[in-house]
Amino acid sequence: MHFRVHPSALVSGDIVVPGDKSISHRALMLSAVAHGSSRISGFLAGEDCLATLAALRAMGVKVDVIDETRLTVHGAGPRGLQAPDGPLDMGNSGTAMRLFAGLLCGQSFGCELAGDASLSQRPMGRVIQPLEAMGARLSSHGGKPPLTVHGSRTLHGIDYQLPVASAQVKSAVLLASLYADGRTALTEPAVTRDHTERMLTSMGARLERNGLHIGMDGRQQLHAVDIGVPADLSSAAFLLLSALLSKKAEILVKGVGINPTRTGVIDVLRQMGAKIDIRNERWLGQEPVGDLHVRPSALHGIDVDPGIVSLAIDEFPVLFVAAALAKGRTTFNGVAELRVKESDRIATMASGLRSLGIDVRETRDGASVEGGQLGGGTVDSSSDHRVAMAFAVAGTVAKAPVSILHTAAVATSFPGFVDCLRAVGAHIDTTESL
Ligand code: S3P
Repeated sequence: MHFRVHPSALVSGDIVVPGDKSISHRALMLSAVAHGSSRISGFLAGEDCLATLAALRAMGVKVDVIDETRLTVHGAGPRGLQAPDGPLDMGNSGTAMRLFAGLLCGQSFGCELAGDASLSQRPMGRVIQPLEAMGARLSSHGGKPPLTVHGSRTLHGIDYQLPVASAQVKSAVLLASLYADGRTALTEPAVTRDHTERMLTSMGARLERNGLHIGMDGRQQLHAVDIGVPADLSSAAFLLLSALLSKKAEILVKGVGINPTRTGVIDVLRQMGAKIDIRNERWLGQEPVGDLHVRPSALHGIDVDPGIVSLAIDEFPVLFVAAALAKGRTTFNGVAELRVKESDRIATMASGLRSLGIDVRETRDGASVEGGQLGGGTVDSSSDHRVAMAFAVAGTVAKAPVSILHTAAVATSFPGFVDCLRAVGAHIDTTESL
């Protein structure tokens, strides 16, 4: 699929975006190994989370699908997963692959985790290394998928300093520690999303957190809970951007997760001059949510604080587009992790913006973007969902139509994206042929 976006006069409105991807994966996996049945609402029925659901079913977990966003997972208990008949397909999802590596390395059976072309290029050494230190055995193709998790291993707790700030690695180790003897202690180089820790706690696990340190005793049992999944701030970010860049659209995105380990994008956009208010703050289980009200804003360039990167890690495509339309220069430093996401996001964003007439200079671990005016043109999203969506929003304020190639991956995280953008007045066509 491809998008063609025409310059559009956006309109005001209230919008609801789909559920949080990170929390939806965790809700499925943790419920699957808990005792009892967990009801999940607000679930993201995107391809990534559906891959996790299919994998759990392939291991014998019973899941009742009530409707698109409501499921009941009948927990199999920590020892209730069964050997799947064949490889488990993780699709495009790094979260599914890395978290399953942790969850499965203490099981009595082995299995293979495979992924699509993009996932097959992503680094898995970062989970293999700590899991092997716990006694697990995993094999890969030179540190890349497919990943074979060899079961029947005795795991033990470790004291581990994560070399990269990664919630996926942290979560993999915490999930493995459910099967390990003794205590696991983790130290992160920077704060990353803490949905795993919150959900483990809500299911009865004891876990101590102190700044960048986490400690958890092994072999703890989880108990079913009802889980409400907030709307995904990472999806809401595209709607925030659309209103900020528009002439007069005021948009309210409702029920969005505002966990402080995720809100870096709001902070950076505000530093650039964005008018974003958080209204009606409340709790959905262990997660804070709010309604995000955003108004058209004159943005200006800034030096983005490298200290905020892990709190906004998925929103750099949005921030690159904001930078391209801001007055003056924006610099991004310390964002080398973007090179190992669904695409090399420094390279894909830089080349896409350049093809629309923006001056972007790339460095090894960042970029500087000179704000200007976007012209029309063609951008290859490299099948990266967030790159495709960021350029779709950019197209609404370009001087001429923008074609965005290879956009099917949008369905991995934001099913209904095109309808959502149309609902606020965007003129966007989709086509199957070039
Ligand atoms: C995620 C963590 C982040 C993020 C990804 C989802 C998670 O990855 O980019 O989209 O659900 O734990 P890293 O932990 O590798 O930075």
